[in-house]
Amino acid sequence: MIETKNSTRRVTVISSISEMKEISQSFQKQNLTIGLVPTMGCLHEGHLSLIKKSLESCDKTVVSIFVNPTQFGPKEDLESYPRQFENDIEKLDEIGVDILFHPSKEEMYPTGYKTFVEVKNITEQLCGKSRPDLFQGVATVVLKLFNIVQPYNAFFGEKDWQQLAVIETLVKDINLDVAIIRVPLVRENDGLAMSSRNRYLSVQERQTALSLSRSLQKAQDHIRQGITSVKIISNLIQQNILETEGTKIDYISICDPLSFKEKEQIRGRTLIALAVKVGPSRLIDNCIIEEI
Ligand code: PAF
Repeated sequence: MIETKNSTRRVTVISSISEMKEISQSFQKQNLTIGLVPTMGCLHEGHLSLIKKSLESCDKTVVSIFVNPTQFGPKEDLESYPRQFENDIEKLDEIGVDILFHPSKEEMYPTGYKTFVEVKNITEQLCGKSRPDLFQGVATVVLKLFNIVQPYNAFFGEKDWQQLAVIETLVKDINLDVAIIRVPLVRENDGLAMSSRNRYLSVQERQTALSLSRSLQKAQDHIRQGITSVKIISNLIQQNILETEGTKIDYISICDPLSFKEKEQIRGRTLIALAVKVGPSRLIDNCIIEEI
């Protein structure tokens, strides 16, 4: 056991791939199921909800913290992405996680690294349009984590709806033996979708950021009243966001939740997804309209 300043550390921190593989193999030999929660750290309630699901349903829970450089574009926030390792460890100790897998960049992508995984057709829209490197980087690192940790279940949040669809497609298409468990988006009391990037926001920007969830709520109210025109709902969302100073819309998409094909009428299950720049942060949010 490693002692920390304030507590006795129980979570085992592993940074080497071979050591992580050995531990996973030993769990499997003992017929213990492994739940994996992949993260980039700076843990918040959204992550903790994934971890709780894993602790409830699997014998051993592995959380990975790795700020994956291959999913950031050259002009994105890789260097400034929030990192709070000691704080994260305390949260993992408190909740009772078994293993923290925390590899270095060199361990995951050694010099000469050449292989990338691409999921086609569902990665060009929404976030993939303005962040062309994102999903190739996500699919690659998630496949590597699955190979290293060998989880029985892996847990992902529905806040990153398109990411979840990409990972589910990856698992299905290349026949991976892991069940992907979807966990609903977690919001702050005032409606803001939880995100590590919320930490970039000033007090004023945080207020501005509420325009995302508020506009989704208004859209849902109008749809409930019978408005099914995508044009009307999309304009409503746009007006709601733009009337709040300090916002820059990246996209508003009203689409099929599996193919991400844009709709003209809100019929059948529909995803409403947004990406909006507030100050330095690009925030995303979404909601699902069930069959109407
Ligand atoms: O959602 C995230 O935090 C990341 O995209 C993931 C899945 C950990 C891959 O780096």
